[in-house]
Amino acid sequence: MKIELRAIQKSFGSLEALKPFSLTIPSGTFVSLLGPSGCGKTTLLRIIAGLEEADSGTIKMNDQIIYSNEKNIHLPPQKRGIGMVFQDFALWPHMTVFENVAYSLKATGKKKGLREKVDQALENVQLGDYRERYPHQLSGGQQQRVAIARAIANDPAVILMDEPLSALDATLRDEMRILLQSLVKRLNMTAIYVTHDQNEAMSMSDYVVVMNAGTLLQEGTPEDIYRYPQTKEVAAFIGKGTIWDGHLQTQGDETYLKVEADLCFPLTNNTAKIIHNEPCTIVVRPEHVRLSQLMFNGAQTGVIESVSFLGERYEVTFRVGQKEKRLFAYSYERFTPGQQIYFTILADSIHFIQPLGGITNETA
Ligand SMILES: Nc1ncnc2c1ncn2[C@@H]1O[C@H](COP(=O)(O)OP(=O)(O)O)[C@@H](O)[C@H]1O
Ligand SMILES: [Mg+2]
Repeated sequence: MKIELRAIQKSFGSLEALKPFSLTIPSGTFVSLLGPSGCGKTTLLRIIAGLEEADSGTIKMNDQIIYSNEKNIHLPPQKRGIGMVFQDFALWPHMTVFENVAYSLKATGKKKGLREKVDQALENVQLGDYRERYPHQLSGGQQQRVAIARAIANDPAVILMDEPLSALDATLRDEMRILLQSLVKRLNMTAIYVTHDQNEAMSMSDYVVVMNAGTLLQEGTPEDIYRYPQTKEVAAFIGKGTIWDGHLQTQGDETYLKVEADLCFPLTNNTAKIIHNEPCTIVVRPEHVRLSQLMFNGAQTGVIESVSFLGERYEVTFRVGQKEKRLFAYSYERFTPGQQIYFTILADSIHFIQPLGGITNETA
């Protein structure tokens, strides 16, 4: 089911929770809405589900208008064919697992094959043996799976999930991520997944939509968003990295990026068309910094600031130049804070945010 949002706007009093917001979600994709708390994710999800009404705009599902203020179309929630999973599970405490899942089916008025549908949904989340239990007899992960079974029991073409894993511990979250991802694909649903957790968004989704303050900042594949952020805001919100303002300098055939008077980095040749001294903003990801205890050709020097052990590698911050600018890097050996190190930045990997529409060093 394709979903099209056009200029969806919503205010609560003087607060503009959603500025005109447009987005097209192709059928069968798993899309994450990623953004800080309060940016309007839940509001948007509730508007799509029909639980909240927008002030203006249009929502289409496969070319059928399901909401338009102008045309006075408001398809009620139960007619939209959408399943929803909430952050707090929202199970009925006095109903068994079976009854919880059956309840939402009954509400849609489709009583035929009820038992089979509930059983199938429970099998799909591996809760077939828990039909007669009450929510308080289940772990948090199992309760969340009941909520998922309830959302999928009616074979919805679309499933909306609002931070469904945030109440679970880390191990369980990883397990549930895999279950949700495979379930969505197996049942051929279009999924919209709301989260403020960039790892969750990047690891699960076909497509990520980065939001802030009621607006869409950038949309793209997880790889695109990570590698080619279009603004500082997106670069800072997604992944680790260093964001620097600098100037592009030319000297003969050589091009440099000057960050500070004593901090210059050579760039590769495809930046030849640049204007001398053009201001720019760059993003350097930690995996593109080469770090060593020993001096090597072309290296510059810095001083280790912090070291965190991450299991398979260390995450390191170090300071460079007179202004002690900070850089992030990964390393396979343990450095010591205060230690002098040598580094280079892989010139091909520097991503330019500005000048806009200008050079993209890494696509050559
Ligand atoms: N029913 C409401 N009444 C008033 N303000 C609301 C209501 N729902 C949400 N808001 C406000 O709208 C903004 C967006 O909220 P929300 O969509 O819940 O953000 P998110 O889910 O991204 O954390 C927040 O500032 C929130 O306080
Ligand atoms: Mg929310």
